[in-house]
Amino acid sequence: MTRTRSGQARDVNLLRGGTRRILAAAAIVAIWSATAFPRGFSQETKPLDTPPPASAYAGDAACAECHAQEAKTYEATAHARDSSDASQATILGNFTPGKNVLRTRNPNLIFAMIAAPDGFYQSAVNIADPQHLTGDAEKFDIVVGSGRHGQTYLYWKGDELFELPVSYWTYTHEWINSPGYADGQVDFNRPAEPRCLECHATTFQTAGPPSNRYQRSSLVLGIGCETCHGPGAEHVARERSAHPPAAGSAEIAIMNPVRLARDRQLDLCGLCHAGPGIPIAPALSFRPGDDLARYVKITVSPPGAPVDVHGNQVNALERSKCFTSGRLTCSTCHNVHESQEDAASFSSHCLSCHSEHACPRFRQMGDSIRTKCVACHMPVRRSNAITSGLEGQVLQAEMRTHTIAIYPDEKGTTE
Ligand code: HEC
Ligand code: HEC
Ligand code: HEC
Ligand code: HEC
Ligand code: HEC
Ligand code: HEC
Ligand code: HEC
Repeated sequence: MTRTRSGQARDVNLLRGGTRRILAAAAIVAIWSATAFPRGFSQETKPLDTPPPASAYAGDAACAECHAQEAKTYEATAHARDSSDASQATILGNFTPGKNVLRTRNPNLIFAMIAAPDGFYQSAVNIADPQHLTGDAEKFDIVVGSGRHGQTYLYWKGDELFELPVSYWTYTHEWINSPGYADGQVDFNRPAEPRCLECHATTFQTAGPPSNRYQRSSLVLGIGCETCHGPGAEHVARERSAHPPAAGSAEIAIMNPVRLARDRQLDLCGLCHAGPGIPIAPALSFRPGDDLARYVKITVSPPGAPVDVHGNQVNALERSKCFTSGRLTCSTCHNVHESQEDAASFSSHCLSCHSEHACPRFRQMGDSIRTKCVACHMPVRRSNAITSGLEGQVLQAEMRTHTIAIYPDEKGTTE
């Protein structure tokens, strides 16, 4: 019945939730195991940790046919726009002469970003002898990042994918050395690994070795519906058939994360929002509903260590006392089908568990406190993780911490 690789953890988890949840979740396990595999492909013969074939995916356009409401608002989200083909519209950096240059610690080396008729290029230039490029010039092929903090770019060499050495930094609207690159050196050879694309694209087929070799046409950019709902070709086929199954039925063949136990919901977001970790199974073999620990060894920093506010919202949230409520998940505050930009509006979610009177500050602030919970209890912090050398400087992204706690110095005035 249960998929052995995740069944055990799921059951242990369920025991905490009482009989009703056990029954509800047993039904889900049954649904998922009955439908997660294409017909004629028996579960017993499925090797552990196999990424789905390209044919298992239907693509966002298919979902939009029947789920127009989700599809319409989803297009504008950072997830949907997270990666894309490089173009004038998607590359945020400036190609205007004068602004198209990154100076480096090496006085003779600059990078020039060039808009040519056939595309956009990054090239390393030896200033001592400007007629001679160093020989390193590569095209922007793929943009990673909607640009909330910055963007990094990838290029194809044959069917191998590499990172470009110059990135874009939204805070200062400048070109910078790509995170982790040594300032003053030319390096066009850093491979773009499957784990990078697992977090920043919907699907792809690997063709390695080496590990950064892909079937180019299989790469679907942007984070699509099927990242969180699982490959949907079977669901689409069944819904288009003469006898379409109903939501929650055993035949629906699509995962609605709301039906998962809390830990499995957190694992779904945690695939990408719990830090890179150490992959222990092939990229894309994790499916919604699986136990993440079997796919990625998540590295958790010790309690008391400075909380890294980049990319590890799961770990940060788990450190909150609120988490002990047993109910808090990412979906308590985030509806991932729409872009939510307004921090003040998030405070309404605190009030689903707390009364404003619970906060001693209510006495001074009165009703105005209702939109400021997040400002004081989830303050913006500098990230230790997205840093980049720019002429020797360390740049730090600013992010909202997900450890909900008491920060006595916060005045609640940042909104
Ligand atoms: C031909 C129409 C059709 C297409 C195409 C389609 N769906 Fe559905 N989907 C449905 C219907 C009908 C339901 C059941 C809705 C209900 O009863 O509330 C459903 C339900 C769902 C649910 C909820 C399942 C549950 O058990 O609660 C999710 C999630 C979902 N679809 C996602 C997708 C995704 C992702 C795609 C694209 C891969 C997609 N759908 C494509 C018709 C479609
Ligand atoms: C574990 C999953 C994971 C891996 C691996 C990963 N990223 Fe990310 N990345 C994220 C998440 C999640 C964010 C958003 C962070 C946030 O807002 O807290 C992000 C943010 C970014 C951003 C900033 C996006 C923006 O709009 O501001 C860039 C650029 C980026 N990643 C590039 C890369 C590249 C290039 C690689 C691989 C070489 C990579 N990342 C590897 C998950 C990952
Ligand atoms: C980042 C993950 C993520 C992505 C991407 C995503 N969803 Fe969802 N979706 C969820 C979660 C989580 C839920 C359950 C929401 C909740 O907890 O109420 C959900 C619920 C749904 C439901 C059930 C809604 C209901 O009211 O029962 C449908 C239908 C759906 N999504 C369709 C889509 C479609 C279509 C897309 C692409 C346009 C999409 N989703 C993209 C995470 C995602
Ligand atoms: C496949 C990897 C992946 C999964 C799974 C994923 N995310 Fe993300 N998420 C990202 C990346 C990458 C970004 C950065 C997007 C950018 O700006 O380029 C991001 C950005 C976000 C943001 C900030 C942007 C915004 O829309 O406000 C939120 C919030 C977020 N994710 C919540 C979630 C939640 C909740 C889930 C689980 C239901 C989830 N994510 C699942 C990769 C993922
Ligand atoms: C799902 C319910 C839930 C939500 C949503 C929630 N909390 Fe909590 N919160 C709790 C519980 C339970 C505790 C622990 C109470 C205790 O230990 O007495 C708690 C504790 C706290 C504490 C005390 C922390 C400490 O370190 O002493 C603060 C402050 C707090 N919450 C603020 C917030 C804010 C602000 C939000 C919104 C951003 C929020 N909470 C959202 C349930 C929740
Ligand atoms: C108690 C409410 C709450 C919960 C629960 C919550 N978030 Fe958030 N999240 C916020 C707020 C508030 C922001 C800041 C929004 C803003 O400033 O526009 C935010 C921002 C984010 C961002 C963007 C960070 C950045 O600055 O780049 C990501 C990514 C994110 N959340 C992911 C998650 C994930 C994953 C979970 C579950 C582990 C989660 N959140 C749970 C309230 C919450
Ligand atoms: C101006 C900053 C500020 C704002 C705004 C704020 N808080 Fe607080 N809150 C604090 C501080 C500081 C404490 C610690 C007690 C103290 O020093 O007064 C606290 C304590 C708490 C506690 C723990 C009380 C206890 O008995 O341990 C909860 C729960 C809480 N706040 C919830 C909220 C909620 C919900 C909101 C929004 C309606 C909110 N807070 C808005 C600063 C703030």
